[in-house]
This record gives sequence, C-alpha cells and structure tokens, in this order.
Amino acid sequence: MLIVGLGMIGGSLAAALKASAYQGRVLACDRDPEEIAKGLEMGVIDAGGPELETWVAQSDIVVLAVPVLAMASVFERLAGCLGERILTDVGSTKGVVCEAAAQAFGALPTRFVPGHPIAGSEKSGVAAANPALYRRHKVILTPQPEADRDAVDQVRALWQGCGAEVLEMSVARHDQVLARTSHLPHMLAFSLVDTLARQDERLEIFRYAAGGFRDFTRIAGSDPVMWRDIFCANREALLGALDEFEAGLSRLRRAVEQGDSDAMLGTFDRASHARHHFETLLNQTSYQTMEARQVQYEVSPGGAVNGRIRVPGDKSISHRSIMLGALANGVTEVKGFLEGEDSLATLQAFRDMGVAIEGPYQGRVTIHGVGLHGLTKPAGPIYVGNSGTAMRLFAGLLAGQEFDTELTGDASLTKRPMARVADPLRLMGARIDTAEGGRPPLKIHGGQPLKGIDYDMPMASAQVKSCLLLAGLYAKGETRVREPAPTRDHTERMLNGFGYPVAREGDLAKLQGGGALTSAPIDVPSDISSATFFLVAAAITPGSDLVLEHVGVNPTRIGVINILKQMGADLRLENPREVGGEPVADLHIRHAPLKGIDIPVDQVPLAIDEFPALFVAAANAEGTTRLRGAEELRVKESDRIKAMADGLEILGVETTVYPDGIDVVGKGGDQPNYGGGQVDSLGDHRIAMAFTVAALRASAPIVIDDCANVATSFPGFVDLANRVGLTLVQTTR
Ligand code: S3P
Repeated sequence: MLIVGLGMIGGSLAAALKASAYQGRVLACDRDPEEIAKGLEMGVIDAGGPELETWVAQSDIVVLAVPVLAMASVFERLAGCLGERILTDVGSTKGVVCEAAAQAFGALPTRFVPGHPIAGSEKSGVAAANPALYRRHKVILTPQPEADRDAVDQVRALWQGCGAEVLEMSVARHDQVLARTSHLPHMLAFSLVDTLARQDERLEIFRYAAGGFRDFTRIAGSDPVMWRDIFCANREALLGALDEFEAGLSRLRRAVEQGDSDAMLGTFDRASHARHHFETLLNQTSYQTMEARQVQYEVSPGGAVNGRIRVPGDKSISHRSIMLGALANGVTEVKGFLEGEDSLATLQAFRDMGVAIEGPYQGRVTIHGVGLHGLTKPAGPIYVGNSGTAMRLFAGLLAGQEFDTELTGDASLTKRPMARVADPLRLMGARIDTAEGGRPPLKIHGGQPLKGIDYDMPMASAQVKSCLLLAGLYAKGETRVREPAPTRDHTERMLNGFGYPVAREGDLAKLQGGGALTSAPIDVPSDISSATFFLVAAAITPGSDLVLEHVGVNPTRIGVINILKQMGADLRLENPREVGGEPVADLHIRHAPLKGIDIPVDQVPLAIDEFPALFVAAANAEGTTRLRGAEELRVKESDRIKAMADGLEILGVETTVYPDGIDVVGKGGDQPNYGGGQVDSLGDHRIAMAFTVAALRASAPIVIDDCANVATSFPGFVDLANRVGLTLVQTTR
C-alpha cells in the first residue's frame, strides 16, 4: 500500500492499518523528507521517499492523500506508471477529483475508487497521526457505475479494517451533501468571525463572546488554504447550498422585521427539535446511518411491587392531540403528552409540514393550529418510526391535502399491512401507492377530491376507523364507518371536543366533511396500556400493593381490567373522574391468586395491546387461559402470539398456538412458576416489558434482547420498574 501525501489524514490511515490486522507493507511518498522520517520513526510506515514512480512500482494499492487541488498534478504523473493498480483518494470533494483523474488518464480508470473519510482534526502533519481517527466514522466511496467491483471491495475492506463504516453514493450527491453539512457551515463561521473582526480591529468584542459564539465559530479556526481549496473545488454545490441558506435567512429576517412570532417560533422549534433528534433524522434523510442501539434488559428473579406511581401519557391520545391541534383553528395546550418516540414522530411530522409547536416540556405542548387547509408540503418523506398509529392516521389526513407526501417507517413498520387503510381511502377517491403486498412506504398523491363513503370495516381497528374519519374531514358529504366490534373512540371524542360533530349510531361512527376544528385544551391521562405491565406485576406477585394514578379508563380500553378481574385479581378503581372528555381513575391493585379463564371474545379489541402482559398473568394463574379471535395480534409491532409463545417456551411455560390465539398453561401457587433464560423481544416494546414483569415469578434471571423500542411508548420504564421493586439492569451496546 502506498500513501501519497503523508500528512495527518494519510498518516492516520497508515497508523490505523499498522494497528489493524493488515498484513502488507505500508509505504509513503511525500515531497517533505521530514514527514517521511517522522513516519518511519513513529513506526506507522515501513519505507518511503519523495520519488513517486519508484514507490508506485512497489505497491498494489495507491491512496492519494494530498490536498484536493494538488491531485491533478499527481494524477498526471500517475498516468504513466499506475498500470492495473487500485487507486483511491481521501479528498473532501469528489467532482473535481474525478474530473482531474479523467483528464489525466483520458477516462476514469476502472480501478479508481474515489473516497472520502468523514473524519479530521484541526492538527496537521504525520506527527498528529491517530490510529483511531477513522474508528466508527463514515467513509463515503463514490465509484462510477463501471468501476471494477473487486477494486471497490478492496478499498471498502481497507477502511473497514480501520474500523470505519463504509457507504457508497454518487459523486454529485456526495458533493451536495458535503456542501450542506460541512462546507456551508465552515463558510458561515469564517464569514461571521471575519465580519466581527473587521468591525473591531482590536478584537475587543471577543472578550465578551461567551458560549454561543465559541460553539458557532470553532471551525473558523481551520486551515485557510485547505478551505480555500475546498470552496474552489466544490463551488457549484456550495453556491447552491448558500442560495437555500440565504432564502431561509431572508424568511427569518422578514419574520423578525414584521414581529411574526408564529413564523419565528415555527423556525426555531423545527430547528431545535431537528437538532435534538438529528441522529434519528440523519438516519432517515441523509448519507449517515445511525448505529443500531442494542439494548438488553437483565431482570433478576423475585421481588414484590409496591408504591404509588404515575405512568406516562396515553399514546393514542397523544398522537391525536397533535394531529387535531395542528388542524384546528387557534392554539391548543396539551398536558400529560407522552414524550415517547412514536408520538414525537407525529409531532415532528407536523413541524415538517409547517406547524409551530412548542415543547414538549415535561409533557406540555403548545400547538399553533393552522386550520384544516393550512399544512404545507414537507421537504422530504415523513418518517414515523415504529408507529402504525401514526402511519395509518396520517394516511387519511394526508389523502385530503393538496400536496404529495410519502410516509415511511422503520423495519418493523415496513412489514405491517397498510392495504386496510389504502383500500377504503381509494374508495373515497384518494390516490395512494404502496410497496408490494400493500406495505409501506405509502406515496399519497395530493389534490384528489375525496367523497364520503359508507364503509364496513373487515377488522375491528381504531386506526382504520380514525384514518377514515380524518379523511372524512376533507371529503364531500358524509363518511360512515361501521365497526365489527367496539374499538377505542379517542378520535371521535376529541373531534367532538374540538367542536367537530361525530355522531354515533350503534356500531356506526359518522361525520360530515367540510367543517372546522376549534382548539381546546387536552389533558392526556396515563396510558392504561403502559399501566398494564405494573397491574400484572402486582397481580402475580405475593406481597404486592400498588396504586397507578390518573389512568385513562375509557370504556373502549378497559378490557385488561375486566379480564384481570375475571381471573381473580384484587383490582379497584378509585377516585373516578372525567378529564377533558376522557374517564380517568386511580387503579389500586394487590396480589391475589389468579385462575385461568377463557377470555371473552368481546374483550379482545378492548385489550388488544395488553395481551403480551396478560399472557404473563396467565402463565402465573392456576389452569389454562384460552384466547381466540385475536388474529390482529399477529400484525402488531411483532407477531405477538408467536413472540410470546417462543419466549414463554424458553422459560418453560406450556403454550399451544392457534392462528387466532393461544392457550397458556399456568401452575398457580406461590412458588416460582418457570425458569429464566434469554428471550428475544423482536424489537417489540410490549414483548420486552411483558418479559420484564415475568421475571418477578421466575426462578432465574430473564435476559431480554432488542429492547430499545420500549422508548416508543414508555420512556422511563427501567427507572420506574426499579422504583416499584423489580431489579432490572439495562445495558446498551
Ligand atoms: C391504536 C389502535 C390499535 C392499537 C394501537 C393504537 C390507536 O390498533 O393496537 O396500539 O391509537 O388507534 P388497531 O386499531 O389497528 O387495532
């Protein structure tokens, strides 16, 4: 391997190779004999010198690590001696490098693999070489389509050997992305510092510059020659990025001039949240990929559950509070909002569509509604993460907009069925494209006139019902949705609370299109689905006595209460009250022996999210618990029948699986009811939390894999679980 240009970047590559399993010799060519001598002394290179041709002749791979504008002359000299060797470079712009190579060689050599490690330091020279510089950093390769794949693979392996993550993209895309994420910020920093410095020749002003100035301008201390070269090399893309920036700055200037506080808030909120969530955002919208978080729970066996706690806000109501608040006229104040990843994805989506939203600050959110027709086209696809509710409700809402949108989600959501909403929306006149098998992403074409339909839902789904009611707001005439069994009615209640009449006639919910929503305050109760894990924990564990405060007990959500009571649980609803149109109570539960039951089919939709935990209750009850009519469980965040059966089997619990349900055989009694073991949550938050609770009655620790998604619905779960008496350790890799 020959490194041409032994500076900090080339030297770090040499040092990283030496520290890795790389077997070959590392050679270097540099005009400066002192750099070569230093490299030899440091032991990062085996040999080197100033004459290019001599060293090329001894190498198989040539890495060009000279400044971007010096590359053209090196290419000229390489043209005569490179032969079939692999050539790569580390230049931070790729268009000019490729042009220079094409000019020198007549055409781009097929064994040329342009590259750019996204790593650096303000230091220079081989003395600053750092073997860890590329570890866990991205390296972008921009090979032309005709490139020799073997050469690409070898260059990829080289960087991976240094611990880097390697990505491929086109030259043009690389230069545009870097213009925005690196070159423009450098330009702004240089320009701001220069402007201030000119105004104050003696630089007095900098004495008073505290954190903001320091943070914003750190990169203005970078190497001027290098940045001059980069700006010359990436001129077009940089100017394009600058145009966009200037337009944004003018908008903000106008808002400040006119005292338009909504516009200012909108900009700052979007930016502030984009900044906080930028890792997630980058994951979806740019060249970076976030490292998957591997979160594991290890739960010790035994313990009892005691205390008074409040679990986070209801997920379903939190989603709807943002949606209806954004579509209303006026300002909506929400408290108790669930700051989980799912509902935050909904919030971010509305910011992306131009809605000013303040917060969340400790569950408080202020939404500056834009009215039913005030949303604006988002800049890119709307990413809703793990959330089926967000995707399905958005599908209805977006079908009524004037602009096109695309809805995307994570790997789990991408497997979930969306035809259940796309089909009836098409009957209403929507134009929606799905991926194969009716899966996400959903491409929704705007500007389609919608008309009300009379729809019999084939499955009991509040998401489908809500989707159609939201589309119905934009439809001509009446939208009527009939459900085969009652499902959660938060959408209907909240629409009525916002002054938009939704009528109920038996199994039918209906509304007229063309009205308007008026903002109203929302107090989100605690989520009964989150409370369930602690209800079951207390119910199955001798010595437990627990109060869960302020839990939503909407009649369409209390299947878990009915089922646990039928199993013999000592569960009382205390202090019942109504808060903002939703019934709420404190749930007081004490341990009592449970017995297996046949779960009444009419309770299934009312407890649809609670079954993972209920199966754990069943594993601790005396006798068999039978569930049928629950095929919907197979298309939740995971196939919850299979996920629970597989995990319970590992613990030694007997189950029989059916297409639409499961039998769980429990032993009852006060002894541990099963063993420990390592189970897989399949990235499903509720499976992870259900097995956590199961450990209370296990004879050995339960280790649960893939628990990061607990953050979608229950931020703070680990702390709360430990607070009430579980012993749970979370590790992150
Ligand atoms: C939800 C409805 C349910 C539920 C989901 C939230 C909602 O899904 O499982 O967690 O907020 O409308 P289905 O309506 O698809 O059963």
